[in-house]
Amino acid sequence: MTSLAVDETIARAVEVLRENDQGAYTIPTKGLYPFQWNWDSCLTALGLAHYDEARAWTEIDTLFAHQWPDGMVPHIIFHVWNDGYFPGPDVWRTGRPTETSGITQPAVAGFAVRRLFDRARDKTLAAARARALLPKIDAWHRWFYENRDPKGEGLVAIIHPWESGRDNSIDWDDAFERVPTEGVEPYTRRDTLHADPAHRPTKEQYDRYLWLLQHFRSLGWDNARLHDASPFQVVDPGFNAILIRACADLADLAEALGESKIAEANRDRAQKGLTAMERLWSDAHGQYLCLDRTTGQLIDSASVGGILAAFAAIPELRAAALAARVEHLAGRARYVVPSHDPDDPRLDAKRYWRGPVWLVVNYMIADGLTAGGRGDVARRITQSSLDLIRESGFAEYYDPLTGGPLGGGRFTWTAAMVIEFLRRA
Ligand code: DGY
Repeated sequence: MTSLAVDETIARAVEVLRENDQGAYTIPTKGLYPFQWNWDSCLTALGLAHYDEARAWTEIDTLFAHQWPDGMVPHIIFHVWNDGYFPGPDVWRTGRPTETSGITQPAVAGFAVRRLFDRARDKTLAAARARALLPKIDAWHRWFYENRDPKGEGLVAIIHPWESGRDNSIDWDDAFERVPTEGVEPYTRRDTLHADPAHRPTKEQYDRYLWLLQHFRSLGWDNARLHDASPFQVVDPGFNAILIRACADLADLAEALGESKIAEANRDRAQKGLTAMERLWSDAHGQYLCLDRTTGQLIDSASVGGILAAFAAIPELRAAALAARVEHLAGRARYVVPSHDPDDPRLDAKRYWRGPVWLVVNYMIADGLTAGGRGDVARRITQSSLDLIRESGFAEYYDPLTGGPLGGGRFTWTAAMVIEFLRRA
């Protein structure tokens, strides 16, 4: 790309961010997602920092202002009333002062805050804002291991597919069979008013999402009980890698700010998690797989979750194997990294997390592979991401075979990632 083209693309990305900016938080996109989402916001902050550092810190501060007393940071904050989304606060009924959902999402905050801090032009502002966030992020990390790893194995489970962020991945299909659908209250979906139903999860999946929500609600959203009471407990390598990376980053940040207790606790969590990740490795697939905690078995589904594990400081040998996986996938799909392996007949190139390419996932994999010495493969991922933007605009996700835009349009975190890719290229 010429530097003029880079400037123009960044300017277009900034336009998307500004359009979705609500003042103290951003919405992922108009219509489909009218509230604040947890991991969207943290990754979006990196893009905001490109033109307004104070605003970037505020994005994360706003999210953490709605942290639960037990330490959980919810996946949606319903700042305003809007009936364009289902399930809204009237369904979650978590009873928080500002309504929130009752489940969480990937813990990217620790990573994002460290990156904002390291790159800050305004160091005084960064030190003050990071120092205030440190104990809150530390409390969230502690919450994860206390509530989602009750046996202290070093790996946390998700108890609802929405927690993974990869809502309808093929990874969940078998475990999801155990989630009943009887007793689900009648509902009307709103997502399919804003996006093509062929790009979205199915009705059967929605029934099960709702059953889990109602089940947790009937237990009073008491996190001390939810893990064991959930028929769905899956250990996702991508989700754990993000948490491990966030713990390691928070430890470094705490060290830099002289908070040695927080540094030590997070260093220990990261180390224990990295050791435990080996349990998820599959030689047969050459990547990590999910583990179904209720059966104790690895799940035979080679999705991008197992490649996203590159985001943590996994052993060199594993990083090399994941780089080889991406190279293999690049020979099978026109654009990398597909959210599922095209060799698997279950791939659905257009449906949400069952095949499409997502730029946030690309960003984290590329970042991890660069750190692991595989800058060549990372550059290939970056190039694919930029090709998609050029051909199909700032979509929510993309068809890995045709490059066509899918899901919502004018998408905030896609725009933020483009700024990241271009400033790093
Ligand atoms: C949705 O509604 O599609 C969200 O991904 C759930 O968080």
